[in-house]
Amino acid sequence: MSKSFLLFTIIVVISFGLWVLYASAELQRFTQPCKSDGSLDFLVVGDWGRRGEYNQSEVAYQMGEIGEKLDIDFVISTGDNFYDNGLTSDHDPFFEESFTKIYTAKSLQKQWYAVLGNHDYRGDAEAQLSPFLREIDCRWLCLRSFIVDAELVEMFFVDTTPFVQEYYTETEHTYDWSGINPPKSYVSNLLKNVELALKESSAKWKIVIGHHAIRSIGHHGDTQELIDQLLPILQANNVDFYMNGHDHCLEHISDTKSPIQFLTSGAGSKTYRGDIQEKGEGLKFYYDGQGFMSVQLTPSDAKIEFYDVDGNVLHTVTSSKQLYSSF
Ligand SMILES: *[C@@H]1O[C@H](CO)[C@@H](O)[C@H](O)[C@H]1NC(C)=O
Repeated sequence: MSKSFLLFTIIVVISFGLWVLYASAELQRFTQPCKSDGSLDFLVVGDWGRRGEYNQSEVAYQMGEIGEKLDIDFVISTGDNFYDNGLTSDHDPFFEESFTKIYTAKSLQKQWYAVLGNHDYRGDAEAQLSPFLREIDCRWLCLRSFIVDAELVEMFFVDTTPFVQEYYTETEHTYDWSGINPPKSYVSNLLKNVELALKESSAKWKIVIGHHAIRSIGHHGDTQELIDQLLPILQANNVDFYMNGHDHCLEHISDTKSPIQFLTSGAGSKTYRGDIQEKGEGLKFYYDGQGFMSVQLTPSDAKIEFYDVDGNVLHTVTSSKQLYSSF
């Protein structure tokens, strides 16, 4: 065997090994306990961090009230956590100014699970993932993609910003793609992991969370990349709800090809954009003002409510499952 052939073989073997390692990197998992009666309650808010401005503080106050009433177990953030350009580093005081000092109610002193939005990618994206933020405020848990297993529900958090092609070419803003390169394999690897995890899940309820809407009639509208790449995986694996932010509104759209309900909660601060696209297929509810969403789950029933800035219920979604059906 010639030396160069040996060298070639070694390189091939090593790169294949690295590829296997990379391709099989599973999504990180966290366990979230349910209540003792097996139920679970949480709030969902998105597109919020503005030092309390644009009614962020008022929404936070009502989240505290509803959180108390429902005895919530945790809070989900659908991304665009810090405006306009994410955090500059994990020492950025904006974190405390827009999170710790705003969501002060007793009922909100629970675990927060957050994904990144496109605005978060305009700053130091990795800053929000830093364990140092958890030292400043132990509620904060933000990762790119991860799974929270809460027995009766499994929640799949998906990093949707790298899917959106226009961010790679637009010149108006710069994005922090460190850790994403090359985007194509990052996205295909992520899709593979989400599909595998969904297939293996035996939870009663399956919820997928991302920043970008799959379906929306708001300012940004549908995200075609997610319709093409993510939606078929959700449709094939009995996902109940897809929850997102991005459009600064509250919204409920039913999928026309599956039982999936698309729920937008992106109204944590600045809203009233006023530009609604033509009435979309499956539209059930749309509200252009501030607010948030609550989710109440039992093994048989889901109840989801949308609230405005004064805590009034604007819309309710219910869903039931047969208790003793096989998976
Ligand atoms: C804040 O909410 C009130 C309703 O309580 C609304 O009238 C007002 O326009 C909102 N402010 C902003 C900046 O959106």
